[in-house]
Amino acid sequence: MQTVHQLDPLRRAVQALRADGSLALVPTMGALHDGHLTLVREAKRAARHVAVSIFVNPRQFGAGEDLDAYPRQLARDVAMLGGEGVSLVWAPTVKVMYPEGYATNVSVSGVSEGLDGAARPGHFDGVATVVIKLFNQVRPDMAFFGEKDWQQLAVIRRMARDLDLVRPYADDIYGIPTVREPDGLAMSSRNAYLTAAERAQAAVLPQAMREAIIALEAGEEAAATLTGLERKLLDGGFASVDYAELRDPDSLAPLQGLGGTSARLLVAARIGRARLIDNMAVSGRG
Ligand code: PAJ
Repeated sequence: MQTVHQLDPLRRAVQALRADGSLALVPTMGALHDGHLTLVREAKRAARHVAVSIFVNPRQFGAGEDLDAYPRQLARDVAMLGGEGVSLVWAPTVKVMYPEGYATNVSVSGVSEGLDGAARPGHFDGVATVVIKLFNQVRPDMAFFGEKDWQQLAVIRRMARDLDLVRPYADDIYGIPTVREPDGLAMSSRNAYLTAAERAQAAVLPQAMREAIIALEAGEEAAATLTGLERKLLDGGFASVDYAELRDPDSLAPLQGLGGTSARLLVAARIGRARLIDNMAVSGRG
């Protein structure tokens, strides 16, 4: 496994790997956990070589967000990846990614509006911009992302279709189901912000979401169910709820209620120093 920080050694490494077989990319911001490693393992099953990028992307953090606090532990991350059969770790510096004079922004409308797009203005521009750069730098045959960030996955797929990307093709962008802790909380690098007490309380998020889904699938009215979900989070120790919404799983169009088709329940809420997001499938009725 090779770790590189500059574009020239990256190009040489990628060329050598591509000459030897297929290449999959798993983009991350590091502080790796089992969710990330699951993506790596799926990538490894699908491709001869796996490249993992580790880059805390300043452009996707808003003013007053946790860019400075975000955990950075490259040596530990590289050690974790050592046992996973990864061929290449791409860990550029901010200067390499955004050199003096950098001026280009990629903006995806539609799917990036509302939800985290509303709560974090500019966030998905930052994500789309860095992901297309990572795609162009590594030129992978396929790329793996987590369903944990459902809207992000939709934004990246939309971008790949709209810009006719070829490495990877939009169809070679894979979404992997969310990996959870034993109490149901979705694994996240940001869970490290929680105190032990907050961490215990945070499990109310997936629990309340599951209860809401059971109610929705049983025919309970959506607006009342979502209000009840927010109430449970606030009563359970969350300080505020950014959103709790029912959306079309693919277009992310807002849904007033559960029709015959399936839906996605997406929630973002704050507890302690952390802002946690989660999403789950809701089956359609009829
Ligand atoms: P990061 O939060 O490090 O996540 C990297 C990838 O791991 C994303 O595709 C994310 O959805 C996935 N992931 C995180 N937690 C997961 C979990 N519990 N189960 C399954 N997958 C999980 O997402 C980003 O970084 C950045 O926005 C990035 C795409 C790298 C662009 O900077």
